Amino acid sequence: MMFAAKPTLVGKLVTLRPVGPEHAEGLQELVTDPEVRRLTGSHGEIAPEAGRHWYATRGEQDDRLDLAIMVADDYVGEVVLNELDTANLSCNLRIALIGSRAFGKGYGSEAIELVLDHAFGTTPLHRISLDVFSFNDRARHVYKKAGFVEEGVLRDALRWEGEWHDSVIMSVLRPDWQARSQTLP
Ligand SMILES: CC(C)(COP(=O)(O)OP(=O)(O)OC[C@H]1O[C@@H](n2cnc3c(N)ncnc32)[C@H](O)[C@@H]1OP(=O)(O)O)[C@@H](O)C(=O)NCCC(=O)NCCS
Repeated sequence: MMFAAKPTLVGKLVTLRPVGPEHAEGLQELVTDPEVRRLTGSHGEIAPEAGRHWYATRGEQDDRLDLAIMVADDYVGEVVLNELDTANLSCNLRIALIGSRAFGKGYGSEAIELVLDHAFGTTPLHRISLDVFSFNDRARHVYKKAGFVEEGVLRDALRWEGEWHDSVIMSVLRPDWQARSQTLP
């Protein structure tokens, strides 16, 4: 299957490592961060033991790739390729960093670049898509910078504290990535 290999991807700022139980405390911090919950529209809660089990079992799943974003030995978030559709060579991407201690330092941009290079460079994937809430200007900027193109809007997809918000669908296709890889230094 496409994601049987669980790579470690090394960048200048961050290293992406296959998630494991050793990252469970970080995951708990991530999913309880109020700003992260708002930006990702997370209504549910994940009990610490469930989170630990989740991270401990991701390595067995060859239809998805869950990577911890590490700054030296510090877990600062995760980036995930999931919802693999092998017939159509497509999957979904999601990323989240732990709020105050990780936003705005270039970690997210580099993590996305590493994952796209891995996905398009080592698998036959053609399309990677995601959805992002319309109010999430930082994420939309970072995705656009990484080569994602806006495709459409899901109206009122999120109800957060009584207010409705749209969700924007974006994707990057293999030819987009190839064209960028040729022009980047
Ligand atoms: C979205 C996210 C992954 C981006 O990663 P990051 O490390 O914070 O972002 P970076 O530091 O790499 O880049 C931030 C860029 O956004 C820009 N930016 C910051 N705030 C912005 C805003 N309100 N509007 C537009 N651009 C903004 C910065 O100027 C910078 O641009 P540049 O690289 O062109 O100079 C991260 O902020 C995050 O995890 N957010 C919470 C969860 C989330 O929103 N996930 C996405 C859900 S779809």
